[in-house]
Amino acid sequence: MNHGDNGHPFLAVHRLQGERIHALLKSNNVLHSHISPVEHEGDFIAFPLLDVDFSASLKNDISAITNLPVHVIKRIPHVMDEVDPHTRLQSVVKDWLTRLVSQKQSPEIQPFIDALPKKWERLGELVLFPSGSFSQEIWTAFSSEDRSELWRDIASVLNVTSIGIQSPVANDAVRSSQATVLRGTSLVKFIDHGIHYEFDAAKVMFSSGNVTERRRIGAMDMSGETVVDAFAGVGYYSFPMLIKAGATHVHACEMNPPSIDGLVRGAEANGIEDRITVHQGNNQESLPKLKRIADRCHLGLLPSSEAAWGLCLQALKSEGGWLHVHMNVKEEEISDWKRKTIEQFQSLSDRMELGFTIRGDHLERVKWYAPYVRHVVYDIECRPERS
Ligand SMILES: C[S@@+](CC[C@H](N)C(=O)[O-])C[C@H]1O[C@@H](n2cnc3c(N)ncnc32)[C@H](O)[C@@H]1O
Repeated sequence: MNHGDNGHPFLAVHRLQGERIHALLKSNNVLHSHISPVEHEGDFIAFPLLDVDFSASLKNDISAITNLPVHVIKRIPHVMDEVDPHTRLQSVVKDWLTRLVSQKQSPEIQPFIDALPKKWERLGELVLFPSGSFSQEIWTAFSSEDRSELWRDIASVLNVTSIGIQSPVANDAVRSSQATVLRGTSLVKFIDHGIHYEFDAAKVMFSSGNVTERRRIGAMDMSGETVVDAFAGVGYYSFPMLIKAGATHVHACEMNPPSIDGLVRGAEANGIEDRITVHQGNNQESLPKLKRIADRCHLGLLPSSEAAWGLCLQALKSEGGWLHVHMNVKEEEISDWKRKTIEQFQSLSDRMELGFTIRGDHLERVKWYAPYVRHVVYDIECRPERS
């Protein structure tokens, strides 16, 4: 069911039949409770639907009232009633539990309502609930038909086509996503700050929490620059650098096939495929082929991008440039880490005889990664000694 620009599905009937049709839709659980019925083309009233796949008997019952086959389903732009999404989620789950629990004599439902997720991540038409949501026995005890009815209703009140559950990002090199889909599809397309992203959210992670950093990087002036993105993912930073910051070209290193897929699709959606070169495979092999070509290198890997530090220094042009180094650092150790990092880059440059003087510039605290641990980005300038 599409709730996008095409509008929401409504069943339009003559107002004289409105009361009976309303009761019928309600008793068959296909009436959407958070969208108001609307007046339609003069004498008609249109009822918002949860589902357009009516059972044969419901179709018959409707036809018996209206004397018409049910072909009057229209998509009408709507305004969701002024209830916040958390209340809508609670109320739809409560309705569903009340309906089923009374039949199955299950325990009190209020604790389960109280335990519903209070926040979630939205990626286009997909809502991802935090890991562990809907995992208690009460949810798993219901039949898959009952649960798929609930997922349908939840998607509907949150105004998306798909819902899933987030899992912790895998502790593997490619930082895979392990999200599971409850309804719909994990293939997402969305626009963030004017930039298109397209990828499979069940296979790759996308940290919405890094939005401030994506905007900060996009707000820099990179006009005329060649940039190396050592950990490109699905273009989290490559795209803002090209589209917002005005970089001329990005060399995007990425080794995870589903991420490469998203990177290529996103580049096409943004119309920048000519300005990005994707280097597939481990950057330990691709970066050595990018010596002395870059004005800037982006090193966006957590918990640490250290394995690529020397290779990124080597990728900078002889006139030097900038590095953006991501790292997870304990808050109390940040100043120590800054000093050591500059020393480390300086000694790498000296050992490789690159002739740079390394200078730490701004340190951005992006977000809390864990208690006491910050995700930081250190902007580092590297210039030839004589300058
Ligand atoms: C964690 S993602 C970037 C996430 C991003 N920082 C965000 O804001 O959502 C890092 C990417 O680097 C890739 N990667 C990790 N190690 C790599 C390597 N040695 N060579 C190439 N790509 C690598 C992973 O596959 C992943 O797509």
